[in-house]
Amino acid sequence: MAHGAKAVEITKDAYWVGAVDWTIRDFHGYLTARGTTYNAYLVMADKITLIDTVKKPFGAEMLARIASVVDPGRIDCVVSNHAEMDHSGFLPEVIAAVQPQTVIASSMGAKVLARHFHGLTEVRAVKDGETLSLGNMSLNFVETRMLHWPDSMFTYLPDRGVLFSQDALGMHLASSERFDDEIDDHVLEWEAAKYYANILLPFSPLVQKLLQRLGGMNLDLQFIATDHGPVWRKDQGWILDLYDKWSRQEPTRKVLVVYDTMWGSTAKMAEAIGEGLQQGGACVKLLPLSASHRSDVATELLDAGGLVVGSPTINSNMFPTVADVLYYLRGLKRQNLVGTCFGSHGWSGEAVGQVADIMRDMKVHMIGEPVKCQWVPDEAVLDQCYAAGLQVAEALPPCRECAV
Ligand code: FEO
Repeated sequence: MAHGAKAVEITKDAYWVGAVDWTIRDFHGYLTARGTTYNAYLVMADKITLIDTVKKPFGAEMLARIASVVDPGRIDCVVSNHAEMDHSGFLPEVIAAVQPQTVIASSMGAKVLARHFHGLTEVRAVKDGETLSLGNMSLNFVETRMLHWPDSMFTYLPDRGVLFSQDALGMHLASSERFDDEIDDHVLEWEAAKYYANILLPFSPLVQKLLQRLGGMNLDLQFIATDHGPVWRKDQGWILDLYDKWSRQEPTRKVLVVYDTMWGSTAKMAEAIGEGLQQGGACVKLLPLSASHRSDVATELLDAGGLVVGSPTINSNMFPTVADVLYYLRGLKRQNLVGTCFGSHGWSGEAVGQVADIMRDMKVHMIGEPVKCQWVPDEAVLDQCYAAGLQVAEALPPCRECAV
């Protein structure tokens, strides 16, 4: 625990009391290159309320931050917006230590918490739209089912204009700064996009519905306090507009060429396809999997319009790194892509067909015939690759800015 850890005031009577995890780099398969935070919030209403907790090893840090404002034993109410262990891991210890009058979760949250922490029966389920009086303030609960778990909900503090949005609208970013306006915009946009691409993308239709619902609620939003990363206080519309754009999944002229290679042949094919794409007016990113983490590939795919995948054949299968990224991307359900696949092989050459099957399963609209090469590509094969790149570029939507 960080010695001297203190709470950070967000606004009058509302404090950040979470923890900063500077060391984590693997968050269930997601490369958290900049670490993360586990955000918890303290509302100093007549009924003192804690919103979410932290990952279990960070419990002492959270309690120390709470104690810099109030004796944790005076907490009356604990709200669990999301049951995943990075936010609920310390909940049983908090309940045991604080013995709050009320523990709140959504109806699914109460069920999930009971299955996570066997015997945890103190949780009261609230309904979507329900209001809870804290005496001089109140909380409104908004179910956000499947964003990104069945239990997920938002809690709104209308008296201070704070929306506690759990994972949604957040990012994995460890920092000493607690607010968006203290952090570089490019870092915010990349990490928020990475979070969306890797966590929320499969639920994009629900994101659209949620944004419409929030828009109709006429909230006086002053702060969006998420469970990871900084609190949004400068311009909440900026992140909400990005969520609108990302959840629409409209294709662009950006194309990823994702591949791995054994002896350089598939890499040569990737480069020739990249040249064809570029000549066709696409914005191209070559992502060799020896140097590209699956979660970064997913992030790059968020604003793309095309996906081209290359794999050598090894022991009658696609290359393991290619299998890894394709299985991961398939689960993220990115829509509205065109693409193709390619690869080199020695004798049997199964990989390209296997890649094509998964890409069709991902609903990628396949353009032309995949390019297969035995052994090392000659000029004729590289011409085929170049032509395949041109063909994919022709299938992209016109460029809005330059009318390509
Ligand atoms: Fe940050 Fe879904 O947990």
